[in-house]
Amino acid sequence: MPKRVGIIGVGSTKFGELWDYSFRDLITEAGTKAITDAGIDGKDIEALYIGSMSPGLFAEQEHISALVADYAGLSGIPATRVEAACASGGLALREAYIAIKSGLFDIVVAGGVEKMTDVSTESAMINLMGAGDQEWEAFKGVTFPALYALMTRRHMFEYGTTIEQISMVSVKNHHNATLNPNAQFQFEVSIEDVMNSPIVADPLRLLHCSPITDGASAVILASEEKAKKLSDEVVWISASALATDTIALHDRKSLSRINSSVIAARNAYEQAKIKPKDIDFAEVHDCFSIAEIMAIEALGFCEFGNGGKITEDGETALDGSIPINPSGGLKAKGHPVGATGIAQAVEAVLQLTGRAGRRQVDDAEIGLIHNVGGSGATSVVHILER
Ligand code: COA
Repeated sequence: MPKRVGIIGVGSTKFGELWDYSFRDLITEAGTKAITDAGIDGKDIEALYIGSMSPGLFAEQEHISALVADYAGLSGIPATRVEAACASGGLALREAYIAIKSGLFDIVVAGGVEKMTDVSTESAMINLMGAGDQEWEAFKGVTFPALYALMTRRHMFEYGTTIEQISMVSVKNHHNATLNPNAQFQFEVSIEDVMNSPIVADPLRLLHCSPITDGASAVILASEEKAKKLSDEVVWISASALATDTIALHDRKSLSRINSSVIAARNAYEQAKIKPKDIDFAEVHDCFSIAEIMAIEALGFCEFGNGGKITEDGETALDGSIPINPSGGLKAKGHPVGATGIAQAVEAVLQLTGRAGRRQVDDAEIGLIHNVGGSGATSVVHILER
């Protein structure tokens, strides 16, 4: 069994409303970039894991495991699609990691893809709500912004978190995205812009929401032996943790914290034998700006209830004590749901290998990535080290 699993190559498309790209164009471009970055031959790849939430509903294409292998010129290899709503990418990364860790394969590709903008916003909302509880939430007319609005209200009530603090998450992430050439929204927003943007689900406004996005990302994983032979710049996966919670929000003990993230984070820190204070930066699942605040609390970067305060104090900014979402996050980099977990890994690898350009975090040695499915029924946490 290999001691460690490393990432030796990464690739992403631009994120946004990409009319010129079909579903297969997206993942082919991301995969080709990752293979080129790793400096390997496609023929070296032994297996493929692809995360996608709803290709059937968004792009009328199922059976994407074989499709991706086909268009990557890899037909013949075992190819598996994994799905955990918006955590599908994180889960694909974890399955690829387990496949190598088990000793079965030496070189595996993990990808994520979603082509969301070919349907109307109304259809996208209905498709996304498939990640919630159909019988108790969706059938009653609840949408994802509405679920996160409920969590927002509860966080504000329990901890005194203010809408200004939540808006500061959006301001920070839009700023970071101006430094990311692949981001969907490369423009700054002010607190006033956020607070005056149209209401989506009270108290959440347009600029508290991640957008609907097309995009794909891919990473090449290798066993320790192969990784050392193939690359001088390996990023090691020192923890991979997955946890679940109830599918419906009303069954949770708390609406102000995501317990699956708490459990996954605890397991990840145990595996990596480190504490939250050892993390140099994190890419977290800010599908709505309140979600970043709940994430940094669940991940142990501050006490529960203090996420708004440390955001306001600038601790989560690029030059703060724990930079969060240097890529621009889901809010401004974009959120092609199945690709997001892999895109987080791509950003972490760029940061850890000093290739993040103008958004480079100083002295980045250990990064954490946190990917959530639905309103928190699934959380995937990975820790990556240089
Ligand atoms: N942030 C900033 N700007 C946004 C935006 C966002 N989240 N979403 C859309 N825009 C911009 C568009 O670029 C467009 O700008 P333009 O007029 O300058 O071209 C404008 O707002 C209108 O865009 P449109 O696509 O018509 O917006 P919409 O009203 O159809 O959709 C939301 C907006 C917020 C409803 C939609 O983005 C949404 O549902 N987001 C949440 C996605 C989600 O739930 N993901 C899963 C999370 S678990």
